[in-house]
Amino acid sequence: MTTPGLRIAQISDLHFGRHLPAMAEALLADLAAVAPSMVAVCGDLTQTAREAEFRAARAFLDQLPAPALVVPGNHDLPGWEVWSRFTSPWRRWRHHLGTDPYRPVVLTMDGLAAVGVNTARRWGPHPDWSRGRIDARQLVAIGAEFDRAPVADLRVLIAHHPFLLTEAGLHRGLVGRAPLALRRLRRKADLLLGGHIHLGYSGVVDGLVVAQSGTAFSDRLKGEPNSYNLVEADGDRLAVTVRRWGGARFDTHDRREYTRTERQWSAL
Ligand SMILES: [Fe+2]
Ligand SMILES: [Fe+2]
Repeated sequence: MTTPGLRIAQISDLHFGRHLPAMAEALLADLAAVAPSMVAVCGDLTQTAREAEFRAARAFLDQLPAPALVVPGNHDLPGWEVWSRFTSPWRRWRHHLGTDPYRPVVLTMDGLAAVGVNTARRWGPHPDWSRGRIDARQLVAIGAEFDRAPVADLRVLIAHHPFLLTEAGLHRGLVGRAPLALRRLRRKADLLLGGHIHLGYSGVVDGLVVAQSGTAFSDRLKGEPNSYNLVEADGDRLAVTVRRWGGARFDTHDRREYTRTERQWSAL
């Protein structure tokens, strides 16, 4: 059994530089009230990877009410500073976040094993460089971390790019090598957390629960209000609640429940 009352706050696409400060304050207040066990921060902390944006993101992360696992998104690479994008793409990330984007980051606590990976790439063999990719070496490292975890732990993968799309986001595309990743993670992981498309929802793919969070407090809306997700886990049950901005605070908008049988999840 996982620890009763395990709660993960999933926030994404903060986009400091295009953020709404009052909404960011309201999110911190909501998170304090929700009292999560951990916070998953699913990338795009900044708008253009500038120094001031990273400083603001760092100051925000320092106010979170629980340990955070933070992964980069495509906007955390220098966009217009093309020279930096290719010669020192993660210099500011390393400086302000203190983690190596080329290695998985791990957060474990009673009943939970969480692994974060960087799916943002400097370029891709296609016109849209914002599309990310998960590679075979990362999948080996993720598998090794999950194999190390106690068998009943909730195993959570955190990455910026999506493993499941709805109709509204189909044009954005899945993370590169998603089919391979889903095959490798089947019966090994429980929950995949992502962002990037600025839409909040959850569902099941190949026996894994996927939760996508919207943009937490930026003005870069893609057809729906700002939101974040609250994941509650208790043994073989999971609930994913989308908490949407309603003009003055975040409120419950949608809640979906899932159940696990022999390490395979299905919707209730
Ligand atoms: Fe984004
Ligand atoms: Fe993104």
